[in-house]
Amino acid sequence: MKRAKITVIGAGNVGASCAFWAAAKELGDVVLIDIPDFADKTAGKALDLAQCGPIERFDCKITGTSDYDAASGSDVVIVTAGIPRKPGMSRDDLIQTNVKIVGSVSEKIASVAPEAVLIVVSNPLDAMVYTAWKKSGFSTKRVVGQAGCLDIARYRTFIAMELGCSVEDISALLMGGHGDDMVPLPRYTSVSGIPITQLIPADRLTAIIDRAKVGGGELVKLMGTSAYYAPAAGSVQMAEAIVKDKKRILPCAGYCDKEYGVGGFFVGVPCVLGADGVEKIIEVELDANERKMLDTSVEHVKELVGVADGFLNS
Ligand code: NAI
Ligand code: 2OP
Repeated sequence: MKRAKITVIGAGNVGASCAFWAAAKELGDVVLIDIPDFADKTAGKALDLAQCGPIERFDCKITGTSDYDAASGSDVVIVTAGIPRKPGMSRDDLIQTNVKIVGSVSEKIASVAPEAVLIVVSNPLDAMVYTAWKKSGFSTKRVVGQAGCLDIARYRTFIAMELGCSVEDISALLMGGHGDDMVPLPRYTSVSGIPITQLIPADRLTAIIDRAKVGGGELVKLMGTSAYYAPAAGSVQMAEAIVKDKKRILPCAGYCDKEYGVGGFFVGVPCVLGADGVEKIIEVELDANERKMLDTSVEHVKELVGVADGFLNS
């Protein structure tokens, strides 16, 4: 069987952690790419990680470089290149810098790995997925953004902390934009099949949802930069679904046209992820309040994409 190849662009906190999770899960060979100034550092991170193989028993070829040719033939490319937010910054503050970075990286990937599925992580996520799609020229199925897997993991973590139960038993769904903009759906949250509304009082559930919404900001305050272990785990969860053709239903920023009446934007929705990328978008029933929250979130995504478009065309 052909070994999968996962390339990660940006070998910083999130990128290096993606390489770590992908290698630890033995998803395939891993290539880490950063700018030429960091070529040695990137090669060093790859070598350090490769030396975990004999201990952790994974058998992957791990390369660190600034040469995009190394990404040739990748099945999945995870884009983490760009600046992260610092205390006091919102994700949206990153847009001008990251549009240029993600735009140029996407063009390079398209030339060396035209068959890959792109998983975009750089922020502001919803606008960066759009940027990657525009600049790569890839079909909408082969460009997808990571946000929901992280937001839902935060939500599930906080529910498990509240109930003192295993995170594994919590099943949940969130939609909309990343973080502060997410649309919580307690009606679609359960613990081993038990509706969450029977286990947690409404006021406590609201507090948990609010904490998950600003979960990224909580970590920026604590660490002075944005989170990386869980964002990378979420990205690799998506990569795994693609390289193993698992048809997992995961909350991702997928391209919605008629779906949810979005009209041609990447928005957080339940996506079926398999070898072809986003193979289907699942439309769930929303009540009037949920629909209103989704519409508000989509409006913010549209505004951000408008700003990104301005920088892309400047
Ligand atoms: P970082 O600063 O640790 O790493 C970013 C890396 O990108 C650096 O090593 C930098 O040299 C590299 N880079 C910059 N321009 C590049 C280019 N043209 N080509 C290749 N590499 C380039 O930042 P961190 O913490 O890894 O965050 C990366 C991005 O991911 C940020 O935009 C951050 O906001 C975003 N993020 C998104 C999350 C999500 O859930 N969608 C969660 C956490 C972070
Ligand atoms: C996060 O939610 C900053 O998007 C990043 O941690």
